[in-house]
Amino acid sequence: MQDEPLQLVPIGNSDLRVSPIGFGCWPISGVSSLGVTTPASEQTVRAALESGINFFDSAYSYGYTGEADAVLARVLKSWSHPVVIANKVGMYYAPSHERIVDGRPQTLVRHAEELLRRLGIEQLDLLYLHQPDPQVPLAESAGAVAELVRRGTARYAGVCNVTLEQLQVFHRECPVIMAQMPFNMLQPESLRPLESYLQLEGIAVAAYWVLMKGLLAGKMTREHVFDPADRRLTYPIYQGTAWQRAHDLIDELREIAGQLGCTVAQLVIAWTLAQPAVDVALCGAKRPEQIRETAQAMKLKLEATVLERLERLVARCRSNTSAQD
Ligand SMILES: NC(=O)c1ccc[n+]([C@@H]2O[C@H](COP(=O)([O-])OP(=O)(O)OC[C@H]3O[C@@H](n4cnc5c(N)ncnc54)[C@H](OP(=O)(O)O)[C@@H]3O)[C@@H](O)[C@H]2O)c1
Repeated sequence: MQDEPLQLVPIGNSDLRVSPIGFGCWPISGVSSLGVTTPASEQTVRAALESGINFFDSAYSYGYTGEADAVLARVLKSWSHPVVIANKVGMYYAPSHERIVDGRPQTLVRHAEELLRRLGIEQLDLLYLHQPDPQVPLAESAGAVAELVRRGTARYAGVCNVTLEQLQVFHRECPVIMAQMPFNMLQPESLRPLESYLQLEGIAVAAYWVLMKGLLAGKMTREHVFDPADRRLTYPIYQGTAWQRAHDLIDELREIAGQLGCTVAQLVIAWTLAQPAVDVALCGAKRPEQIRETAQAMKLKLEATVLERLERLVARCRSNTSAQD
């Protein structure tokens, strides 16, 4: 891997410059990842910073009461270099731990104001609507996020988990610099419907689930025995033939990673970052060694022949999936 200074990437047409890997704060929220501890979470965020990551992706709902933001705030207090903080509004946990989507303008404003308090900052760099609320006209949610940008609560707006039509409605009401969508080797088509509009409007993409919640880190065997409390078991990709097909792909990735002298996680992330539709790969971690490993992928540039080989494997995996779905 080359040891050159890290190239920061621009987010859309904004003046924000971020590391190509963004640290995903979901695991350190402790909501679904098992064995999360505050000391390990703090060490993980610090390891991300020390590995060159300057982009942090959190949300109002990352924790039942903002646990991820609390960790972030504590670690950043002793970090003197600039960072870019993205956060999201419009989703929260009720006291019963039920997840609620709430895109009403007054909720979005209240969430955003609380985020500033949690993080001890005066302005968020990027504020996303977490997901459209089917009970609220999207233009109303967008209007509230636009107002938060006008007021200076956030510098820029973004939106997550949208269809093309929803993106168009949102962007008309509230110009966004970044969209956040799931994208990985097992779901490579998820951005396709949005791609030409994103390009036309100069909207950047942050891909999430790049490691498919750990599966594409390549460390679980086919026989992996999950803790019954591990929520990943509820994901279709962690079950039955989808799990076997994913492992067929991972076996091939292991061979290529071995030839390149990198890990499967690094290969997967480097492939993701080589995709023209992707600007930033969001990678979650709950242990410092995980983010140290994944951050190394920012230095891994894949040769055209390797990328072509990976494209063929991804396409084969997809066609096997479609044939059996
Ligand atoms: N906008 C949205 O609606 C939305 C939705 C989902 C995610 N996101 C964002 O995207 C980020 C990424 O998604 P994610 O965190 O859910 O999943 P992810 O990045 O695909 O996977 C993270 C998990 O993979 C495992 N892992 C990470 N690095 C590893 C390594 N080097 N070796 C082995 N295992 C490793 C860890 O799980 P274990 O140690 O438990 O195995 C970790 O918690 C989130 O944190 C969040 O910021 C946004």
